[in-house]
Amino acid sequence: MMETPDPLSAKYEGSFAYYTVKDRLPQILTKVIDNIHRNKNKFLEAHGEEGIEAEKKALSFFSKLRNEMQTDKPMLPLSDELPDVQIWNQYLDYQRTLLSNGEEPSWFKSPWLYVECYMYRRIQEGMALSPPISDYDVFRDSKNDGFFQSQQAMLALCTHLQEMKGRINSLSKDEVRDEIYKLLQVSLWGNKCDLSVSGGQDNSQTTSVLASLEDFKAFILVDDTTSVWNILSMKTDGNTGTRVDFVLDNAGFELITDLVLADAMLSLNLATEVHFHGKVKPWYVSDTTKHDFDWTVRQCLAANNKWMSKCGQTWKENLKKGRWVYHEHLFWTLPHEFCTMAEVAPDLYTELQKSDLVLFKGDLNYRKLTGDRKWDFTVPFSQALRSFHPAPLCSIRTLKADVQVGLPAGVGEQLAATETDWLTTGKYGVIQFSPVV
Ligand code: F6P
Ligand code: MG
Repeated sequence: MMETPDPLSAKYEGSFAYYTVKDRLPQILTKVIDNIHRNKNKFLEAHGEEGIEAEKKALSFFSKLRNEMQTDKPMLPLSDELPDVQIWNQYLDYQRTLLSNGEEPSWFKSPWLYVECYMYRRIQEGMALSPPISDYDVFRDSKNDGFFQSQQAMLALCTHLQEMKGRINSLSKDEVRDEIYKLLQVSLWGNKCDLSVSGGQDNSQTTSVLASLEDFKAFILVDDTTSVWNILSMKTDGNTGTRVDFVLDNAGFELITDLVLADAMLSLNLATEVHFHGKVKPWYVSDTTKHDFDWTVRQCLAANNKWMSKCGQTWKENLKKGRWVYHEHLFWTLPHEFCTMAEVAPDLYTELQKSDLVLFKGDLNYRKLTGDRKWDFTVPFSQALRSFHPAPLCSIRTLKADVQVGLPAGVGEQLAATETDWLTTGKYGVIQFSPVV
């Protein structure tokens, strides 16, 4: 008899990176169930008895889903009518072709990246099939809590930005460069604060990161900040525009670090337009949706603190005047690796080609950039991207999954010898650049 793999810790052999996490996905589903249950009265108030019926339907869907997951049932085709349903079901067919002996893709036997994305898409299915509460974001409460718990760190950052802007005319070129270096690092460490890595538990930033940057430098395994700076400082003649794109990751503290960096780029005349790319549906617990983005700007605007409120004001104006543009595309919530973007989402690829620099925030984006493969640590980043070169790009990511490329020889092995979990705790980070090759 075949041995059943340990739940959610199957090792994906061959070209897939394997990931060993026990219990995390069921834990997230349990939180979803709790959240829906806790919001029962809200559904009743908004929709009467229909709301309660929908709540029951969603709860039973998620309990069943958790059971399917824990007992290694086959992955089922999606049955809702959302616009991406066909692409997902085709991807399931593709997963089938990867298995030999006519086996069905199941929760323990499929690539980790696919399994995890599939779970978040099934959560969306559960809500889509439960009208009239279909648009309810099951992660909104935890995202909002994360935002409020990081208030102090956010205030420190907004204050820093506004003070810097107050001195802007007297800053030397070196000081401008140092400022960008600093804010890139802040944006990197902001990526520690995601809620999927903590199984949905509070993981907010309570202290100011700015004060700790020097101490954290030793944990940046690849630092290509100079390449980023070279692009930003190249076109300072004022005649040509510079467009920077942020492929966003988490709402909460991380989003504030990104907005502060984007604000500084415009204020310091290093960029003329900034484009943000967010998720069309609730994703990996804390990922930013349009609602989260707008909510964050509104919260800042309404803050009691004058610097934070000033930030909110500027950001609102930037959006209104088109200096900041927010984009949505369903490709970001597919399980596909980015090397397929030109084929699967050619419009998005063309959009990114207009950029002078694309910043990919976070761990999941890194996994999709590199295909979540078991690369040798020394494989060049540009090679691991496998023809995904829409524009010069930089990954800003703390390490939470066991894929890492572009390290100097011996570094990965050395770390592995002393810290078994160095790839997954978020302690280490990279600012890793690739030109268009
Ligand atoms: O570790 C759990 C996990 O969901 C990873 O699978 C995923 O890559 C990461 O957390 C998400 O992190 P981020 O928010 O940085 O993309
Ligand atoms: Mg995330």
